[in-house]
Amino acid sequence: MKVGVFDSGIGGLTVVKSLLEHQLFEEIIYYGDTARVPYGIKDKNTIIRYGLEAVEFFKNFELDLIIVACNTVSAYALSEMREISTCPIYGVVEAGILACGNSLGDKNSNILILGTKATINSKAYENGLKEIGFNKLQTKATGLFVPLVEEEIYSGNILEETFKYYFKNISKPHAIILGCTHFPLISKALQNYFTKEIKLIHSGDAIVQYLESEFTFTKKYKNPEMKFFASENPEALRTIASKWLKNINQ
Ligand code: DGL
Repeated sequence: MKVGVFDSGIGGLTVVKSLLEHQLFEEIIYYGDTARVPYGIKDKNTIIRYGLEAVEFFKNFELDLIIVACNTVSAYALSEMREISTCPIYGVVEAGILACGNSLGDKNSNILILGTKATINSKAYENGLKEIGFNKLQTKATGLFVPLVEEEIYSGNILEETFKYYFKNISKPHAIILGCTHFPLISKALQNYFTKEIKLIHSGDAIVQYLESEFTFTKKYKNPEMKFFASENPEALRTIASKWLKNINQ
């Protein structure tokens, strides 16, 4: 199968990493809208317009499916994107909600939802989790994590101070939804801050679980063909991709 992976920038590479670890696809076409990132501070109509443009971009590739590896786009634009797409589209928010339901047996678990301002304001995770019976939910828009990760700051003082700033009124959760595809890169720091036992819901792993429940994957692809496209400076995206995706399947 040939899959298109879309994100506002480089964060969706954390989803590609999960796809590669599970060797699901023969060919992966990645598109990051690096010229217009961040999406998380934009309004609904703009996010939908950018999502639709990504579907048009992918029409050049005869894909079997598209993964929206951006929580912000998944929260606002999926139904509009599906209307104009010639192949099925899967988003990370729905997958994350299901993964949470699968991995947390206790509906009284205290879940902290992190995401961009747009994702948190959409209440997509909150509403979805309430629908499946979770009611102890805390939410926090943590947009500053995005530029920190882009600067490759995954630990240290600046990040810790940012945690203190965002989490001062947050009670210790049982699980955190990493509701932005940049956030898996600071997983370790989050666990150091709260506790190692905390469960982290990762968009990449969640979408893999979700796809495995929807499709029968009969073959493993150890070395899929990969192409990386960006709306600005594709070379920079390719450099980061080769760094982040190094050592997978070797
Ligand atoms: N990758 C985006 C997400 O998962 C966050 C970055 C942005 O604000 O564009 O929501």
